[in-house]
Amino acid sequence: MSGPDQYGVIGHPVAHSWSPFIHGMFAKATAQDMTYRLFEVPPEQFRRETLHLIAAGVRGLNVTLPHKQAAAELVNELTPRAARAQAVNTIAYFEERLLGDNTDGIGLVRDLECNLKLGLAGRRVLILGAGGAARGVIGPLLDAEIRSLTVANRTPFKARKLAEEFAAGAPVAGCTFEEVEGSFDLIINATSASLQGAMPPLPAGLIARHTVCYDLAYGRGHTPFTRWAESQHAALTSKGWGMLVEQAAESFLLWRGVRPLTAPVLEALAQQL
Ligand code: ATR
Repeated sequence: MSGPDQYGVIGHPVAHSWSPFIHGMFAKATAQDMTYRLFEVPPEQFRRETLHLIAAGVRGLNVTLPHKQAAAELVNELTPRAARAQAVNTIAYFEERLLGDNTDGIGLVRDLECNLKLGLAGRRVLILGAGGAARGVIGPLLDAEIRSLTVANRTPFKARKLAEEFAAGAPVAGCTFEEVEGSFDLIINATSASLQGAMPPLPAGLIARHTVCYDLAYGRGHTPFTRWAESQHAALTSKGWGMLVEQAAESFLLWRGVRPLTAPVLEALAQQL
């Protein structure tokens, strides 16, 4: 097929996605001849529509909610980090095979370490939530040699199960929100509570003067979590925009073999917002 190489993001809903903006800037900056589009696809059509897009010439897809686990089941091969997360946010079509990768965790680690200058080694980390978003970031956080990881969740058995999955040789524990004890260097909100305007019921004393609070959600303005963090005087509060751009850069690298600079895109986003 002639013309620019085709890419896009598949999700439900997907109209709000900033990925076309981000990948458009990456493509321009690195002089790649490519397009990037939104594909709104409900869960029951995910498999058929993905295969259809690939057959029609699409060379790579980002995968967003609610399809990340279905994508892990669809592809022919998983990268080690996607296998560990059992979730795929990037599909690449190489040599008639679908490769599934997960760049969410490395995107978060890069945003924390490179953009926010938070060295992760030796840190005590708390993750709120035990769903797909938490699952995607745990492996790369452990690889960054954090001291300990506590996974707290509304449904405790899911937190314990997730902790057990990653616990071999790693300091990971699962518990309820009420059971969380002590203060943390980094608190990550990986629940979808913000979507309902809610905040997990956390005990007092989790935030010390140096604590960084990071909401994987992004959007304009505060989330209930960032509002809570500021009311508790966290040293730094961030939403997931940096992670969004950094995970996109990793996807772009997989597809095009070129790593785009992320700082100009972060600046452009900050202006748009
Ligand atoms: P995602 O892929 O975004 O992680 P998910 O797999 O549905 O979505 O997981 C959502 C997470 O947010 C879960 O940890 C969920 O808690 P449960 O396991 O108890 O369902 C958590 N969550 C959703 N709404 C919440 C709320 N109002 N308060 C606290 N936790 C909430």
